[in-house]
Amino acid sequence: MMQIRKAEFLKSASSGRQYPDHDLPEVAFAGRSNVGKSSLINVLVNRKKLVRTSSTPGRTQLLNFFVINDRLCLVDLPGYGFAKVAKSVRNSWQKMVGDYLTKRPNLKRVILILDARRDPRPEDLDLIRNLQGYDFKTILVATKIDKVRNTKQSPRLLELERSLGKSVPKPLPFSAVTGEGKEAIWESILEDLALPL
Ligand code: GTP
Ligand code: MG
Repeated sequence: MMQIRKAEFLKSASSGRQYPDHDLPEVAFAGRSNVGKSSLINVLVNRKKLVRTSSTPGRTQLLNFFVINDRLCLVDLPGYGFAKVAKSVRNSWQKMVGDYLTKRPNLKRVILILDARRDPRPEDLDLIRNLQGYDFKTILVATKIDKVRNTKQSPRLLELERSLGKSVPKPLPFSAVTGEGKEAIWESILEDLALPL
């Protein structure tokens, strides 16, 4: 189990020049707006309010870097797929996130977060497909599993796997409300990362 001794906000960035100048491995959290990216980070690091969460979609608009135990950097990415944004904002998202995903040597893991209750949208599938071309490991998380009745959870997860297709890693079920799935996600993040924590 990951012991969190220290968790602090480092900085926000919108372009490469502003990325932190460090050698820490980075774990990025991506997904639709409002899916629960920031909530997942807070649960992983046992802090209620390290990252700001909101029921209003589009809360996170920059890349936000957080340093854990002085050893690992978590990066909260702005969400995509929020209908009410102008095309210019969508384009700037693509540039901001696209640049980070393709040009950041520190990036070792991408956590792609899906809503357990919903089948992936075209934007999700596009991103998943794109991520598969890179060196870093992609981990899928099916969040808000607390919103699915207990007896329905297994069949729902199978359905979700099927809608993602064969070559995609199985989503790990998670709930920011109950904390279910937290250990499995940490294990998957830390596996083969060779990190002194
Ligand atoms: P943006 O930054 O706007 O892209 O959103 P986000 O993906 O960071 O989502 P955020 O963590 O802010 O959560 C959005 C809403 O979903 C909030 O109202 C959260 O309380 C709620 N939420 C997040 N995770 C869960 C979960 O596991 N279960 C339930 N029931 N609600 C959740
Ligand atoms: Mg957020």
